[in-house]
Amino acid sequence: MNPTHMKNMTRSLGFGGCTLLASATAVVFQFAAAAVPATPALRAAFADDFLVGAALNPAQIDGRNAHAGEIAARQFSTLTAENDMKWQSVHPQPGRYEFKAADAYAEFAAKHDMKLIGHNLVWHSQTPAWVFQGEDGQPATREQLLKRMRDHIQTVAGRYKGKIKGWDVVNEALADGGPGILRDSPWRRIIGDDFIDQAFRFAREADPKAELYYNDYGLENEHKRSNCVKLVRGMIERGVPIDGVGTQSHFQLNSPSLADVEKTIKDLAALGVKVMVTELDVDVLPSRGNMGNADISRREQADASLNPYAAGLPDDVQEKLARRYADLFGIYLRHRKSITRVTLWGLDDGQSWLNGFPIRGRTNHPLLIGRDLKPKPAFFAVLKLGQASRP
Ligand code: XIL
Repeated sequence: MNPTHMKNMTRSLGFGGCTLLASATAVVFQFAAAAVPATPALRAAFADDFLVGAALNPAQIDGRNAHAGEIAARQFSTLTAENDMKWQSVHPQPGRYEFKAADAYAEFAAKHDMKLIGHNLVWHSQTPAWVFQGEDGQPATREQLLKRMRDHIQTVAGRYKGKIKGWDVVNEALADGGPGILRDSPWRRIIGDDFIDQAFRFAREADPKAELYYNDYGLENEHKRSNCVKLVRGMIERGVPIDGVGTQSHFQLNSPSLADVEKTIKDLAALGVKVMVTELDVDVLPSRGNMGNADISRREQADASLNPYAAGLPDDVQEKLARRYADLFGIYLRHRKSITRVTLWGLDDGQSWLNGFPIRGRTNHPLLIGRDLKPKPAFFAVLKLGQASRP
């Protein structure tokens, strides 16, 4: 590859001008030594396979971080609001809806020919306490909470009707352990186990054309996976309108195993629903255990030894990350008939929630694009696989 070629390629990737040249030269030669592709963007490379997306934040779509916005539009065919469509953002107080931030994602998606994913309608986290309260400090009654849920879904899903490809209708309802299948959340305590069915029925009523998804983390764990299969099978048998299941896929470098990743996709696909990878990232930092538990309320004690890459990711780990992503996308491509979308949980490492979870203030490197907004070896490893998959 000659220097002019390289310059054109890095420019057309949407990552900007020649400053990228030196670093890209090294990684491209290492991971994508083949011919210069005509359209070197993930969304084009995977166009015949599945949608590829990223979770975005307000600064990336409203022009404050215009360069990041350009990269997102160039590289991805779908976007999810990282926080701005959650209950606490769109419906902070009883009867008061705030759609300014959420609307901006719909506009950005339309402008850049990207599909918009709604995240999410019913969840136990990032939902204000008033939602579960009744009169005089008592918990809400089943009837009160069902009405609140229906009003919320009608208003929010109704607003984006025709603009949204699909909704994460219920997020993280499964328990991580213990005897029951479902998590002991206020939704379940107050309404009962049928809160999930009800949410999906309300969502279909509010937007009959949007795809409706159940979304959760840790489905690569055998116990949780089989519970998810039971849950979704039951919904299908009861005639509940569900179109797909999202496996969030908050992964580590060595966990879960590739076999478990693949088994999860196969088991979900066997239910006859669409399968989506909805929040992919690969945590490269050491952990205290609890791997695969992405419950946002989980906190671990800080310790300097758990933040080893504050000055940058060493080459050998960078390479491991690229291999991990290549292995994962290899599986996704093998199951492209069942997988309709792969979304990364963030555009670049600087934005990633894993800098703050489960320990605040660390420097993580879990995505395909660095905090300098330049593509990492993992990016080129994934791009190369996508290009090789084209007929
Ligand atoms: C995370 C966001 O990335 C953070 O910015 C926020 O502080 C907490 O929530 N599972 C989900 C996502 O379904 O909504 C979570 O997003 C990450 C775990």
